[in-house]
Amino acid sequence: MPQTSDLAARLRAATWSAHQSAAGDAFVKGLLRGERTVADYARLASQHLVIYRALEAAVAASGSGLAASLHDPALERVAAIEADLAALGGRADPTPATAAYARHLAGLAADPVRLAAHHYTRYLGDLSGGQHIGRALSRHFGEATTSFYRFAIDDLDAFKQQYRATLDAAGLVAVDERALLDEAAHAYAAAHAVHASLADEAAMVA
Ligand code: HEM
Repeated sequence: MPQTSDLAARLRAATWSAHQSAAGDAFVKGLLRGERTVADYARLASQHLVIYRALEAAVAASGSGLAASLHDPALERVAAIEADLAALGGRADPTPATAAYARHLAGLAADPVRLAAHHYTRYLGDLSGGQHIGRALSRHFGEATTSFYRFAIDDLDAFKQQYRATLDAAGLVAVDERALLDEAAHAYAAAHAVHASLADEAAMVA
């Protein structure tokens, strides 16, 4: 039997402890507290550029399927990150963890269910806690560096509700739901690995 109802709630519940762990990463917390330099923020934006280029290319190549049905062009972040990086004086320069994440995403173009887990983890995060992050970074580094966090979407809550409704209506069979939940754990682990790589790098140059 396909499990059609409450998939979005199950996905959130299954990943919330991983979320709390990624949200507690020292590098990001330091940035939000204003304890890190503009060069540190540029390194984060640089990782985002590599990650979102890979994610958005994989979604575009994935054809029809869950990732494409969740997608909306208003989500696309590459142009915004390029603008932020230009303002920050940075460029696409991945840490090894980011390069590994981008390679992993490229490999998921043929697996729209697993790709959807990354779509959810990145974009629903950007539309949720990302809004708080964007406001804090704007205070520290200026609005010209934070277009990544601003979406041309009038009602973010309504958009997120629609996104969750699309997940609930996907009609995934159990094996696909398992793959989605497993892959979402991987998406959080990848985000954590990227943050840890930036913390290591910052400690090396400190
Ligand atoms: C300081 C860092 C972070 C803070 C303060 C934060 C905060 C939040 C908050 C308050 C929500 C709930 C919003 C709501 O229910 O509408 C949320 C949701 C979410 N966050 Fe974060 N977050 C952070 C980092 C991250 C990271 C690093 C990721 C993943 C890469 C992420 C992914 C998500 C996702 C996917 C959701 C939506 C969960 C759902 O409703 O299904 N967050 N975040």
